[in-house]
Amino acid sequence: MSTARTTVGYPGCRIIGSGVATPGRTLTNHDLEQMMDTSDEWIVQRTGIRSRQIARKDGTENTMTLSVDAGRRAIADAGIDPSEIDLVMLATMTPEYTCPPTACRVAMEIGAGKGRDEGANHDRYAGAWDFSGACCGFVFALNNAYALIRAGMARTLLLIGADTLSKYVHYNTAGRSTAILFGDAAGAIVLRGEQDPSVGVLAQAMLSDGSRWQELYLPFEEHNFPNDVEPQRELLNTVQMNGRGVFKFAVGTFPEIIAQTLDAAGLSADEVDHFVCHQSNARILTAARDRFGLDEHKLHINIDRYGNTVAASIPLVLQDLRSEGKVREGQRIMFVGFGGGLTWGTSLWQV
Ligand code: COA
Repeated sequence: MSTARTTVGYPGCRIIGSGVATPGRTLTNHDLEQMMDTSDEWIVQRTGIRSRQIARKDGTENTMTLSVDAGRRAIADAGIDPSEIDLVMLATMTPEYTCPPTACRVAMEIGAGKGRDEGANHDRYAGAWDFSGACCGFVFALNNAYALIRAGMARTLLLIGADTLSKYVHYNTAGRSTAILFGDAAGAIVLRGEQDPSVGVLAQAMLSDGSRWQELYLPFEEHNFPNDVEPQRELLNTVQMNGRGVFKFAVGTFPEIIAQTLDAAGLSADEVDHFVCHQSNARILTAARDRFGLDEHKLHINIDRYGNTVAASIPLVLQDLRSEGKVREGQRIMFVGFGGGLTWGTSLWQV
């Protein structure tokens, strides 16, 4: 395929591969008990989390390396050559740089799109960019990726959700309500445009309410604090969260956006095979399960092993389902995200 393309769209789109990567260090609740005033019982009861994987701080494990590993695995799972990738999108709120986009280095490491177009006598490259959508990043990027493929701007797209938020939390008692929540990971999928119009997005939603930005933010400079908060230098580069506020928002919004998406598609919850949801708190997820009367196997929870991995959490759930052989052709999957912004959104797929 040549680097420049005419925009002949694809009527359908499939997820043809997936892969994940997690860093080597396991941080259990019992480890946290040694670092701050907390307990395994408190964390499990309030969040459902038992352990999380944390990137080494020596630069050998970071958003880029995890993205490369997850991306390679997704490409291998799809059974394609990296040169077939047209675009690489990396959803992350913890890029390695603001410039260059981390996705460009990931694409280079993977060899995405790389080759020589002998007929046209030029080298080929994949486009690559970062996509900042916090915990909703993967779902928003997924809808964007689908739209690009439908429009014919790409046929094969590598979408990665990766975050290493552990570098922005303090593992001490003052930072304990956020430090216990987050883990580091990357998850990737390969999307491909198809002629079959029955596969792809059936309905979607992408929403934000910037008036509530201060519920969850990451200040880098003193003027980044809200007007009613005294700037504190020691809180710079540390995630700030109103846990209760976010919890209330999520418990209300989460079922609401699921119901609206089902309505838009003219489907009932029973007609969706899997709800692949952002893993922020097991209580939020079980409340959604109860609201729709869903069985455990329909709304999978893996936060116990990973914590909240931000943009990676949704592909981590998808990977669990795919590796257990639970995702089959003809099924419907609803991806559901919410997070800082505040943002919330869905992507309902026929796969
Ligand atoms: N261990 C022990 N005690 C803790 C603690 C910890 N890790 N973190 C907070 N506490 C304490 C608080 O200091 C407070 O003590 P006090 O009553 O003596 O002041 C008490 O527990 C209750 O604090 P609160 O923040 O109200 O707890 P909570 O029940 O709301 O649980 C969260 C805190 C963070 C677990 C919960 O609010 C939550 O999960 N919110 C959603 C967060 C989220 O999903 N964020 C990501 C969005 S993508």
